[in-house]
Amino acid sequence: TFFCFVFLSSVDSQVGCDDEYADIDWDTVGFGLTPTDYMYTMRCSEQNYEFTEGQLNRYGNIELSPAAGVLNYGQGLFEGMKALRREDGRLVLFRPDQNALRMKEGAARMCMPSPTITQFIEAVRQTAIANKRWIPPPGKGSLYMRPMLLGTGPILGLGPAPEYMFLVYASPVRNYFKEGSAPLNLYIEQEFDRASRGGTGGIKTISNYGPALRPLVKAKSKGFSDVLYLDSVHGKYIEEVSSCNIFMVKENIISTPPVKGTILPGVTRKSIIEIARDLGYRVEERPIAVEELLEADEVFGTGTAVVVAPVGSITHLGERVEYRTDDNSVSKRLLSAYVAIQNGFMEDKKGWVVEI
Ligand code: COI
Repeated sequence: TFFCFVFLSSVDSQVGCDDEYADIDWDTVGFGLTPTDYMYTMRCSEQNYEFTEGQLNRYGNIELSPAAGVLNYGQGLFEGMKALRREDGRLVLFRPDQNALRMKEGAARMCMPSPTITQFIEAVRQTAIANKRWIPPPGKGSLYMRPMLLGTGPILGLGPAPEYMFLVYASPVRNYFKEGSAPLNLYIEQEFDRASRGGTGGIKTISNYGPALRPLVKAKSKGFSDVLYLDSVHGKYIEEVSSCNIFMVKENIISTPPVKGTILPGVTRKSIIEIARDLGYRVEERPIAVEELLEADEVFGTGTAVVVAPVGSITHLGERVEYRTDDNSVSKRLLSAYVAIQNGFMEDKKGWVVEI
């Protein structure tokens, strides 16, 4: 606490670790943005093309040139991760190196310099600690961390921006969907594709998400929770949901589409595959035709924001298929194990949980 107070008072004397919790109703937190106290920024210019030193500042707007690469040509990436407060009082992140690595890979695809793995993790750690009073009480959600890499320098003709900014902001969150933890109702999109062969579906660029809005808004207006996309070549194999990866279970065998450039390599996806195998399940990463999905016993989504979300129904070409979502389902078992590892109720054999 002493370190924390000194550290914070050097940034701003208004907030100290003595304010244990922010004054909000933790029971009504959903996935809306709740502005917190601090954000982290780090800049990099054309001269050295390297990020050197970042800093914490009060959370607020950033100023950008109207000609910024990110605004004009979508040169930007984001990440999503969560800081948790455990019953034992420890504050933890989950596999932050995986998000750092994914940003680095995305940056290479988008012609951007990226922070090193160490710089990335340190920035997230500092932002989480500076906003400690916004990390919800145990069992009431988490502090969602949003690292971003943006082409901030002005550029008129198409080309990589001359300057970049890496930033991290945070917001307390709980359930991603308005359904809470109730099963989702997905709609299989026919008209629009999420990603194409050779495109950017496999990285977390901001430009993958804007085009998903129209199908999402249309599906939500019809009462669905989210949209499930098919592959753009055959319109036959399932790819992912706009907010998460997708899994199916048939006769206790778990299957999920392989990540080969058009599907986001989710950190939760990867972790759930390992947890499932450790629990003795057979897990296959292979193309799954939509007809096969409709025959599954169980379907669930995985992602940082959605965690492990059971799917209660899928609607395809006007036909609605329902799935098992009871307490003995595979997805419930996987969710329990995942949450138990994060919260220290199950041994973290792989060193996934990082105390901050
Ligand atoms: C996340 O799960 O962290 C994401 O970035 C998905 C986003 C649609 C909220």
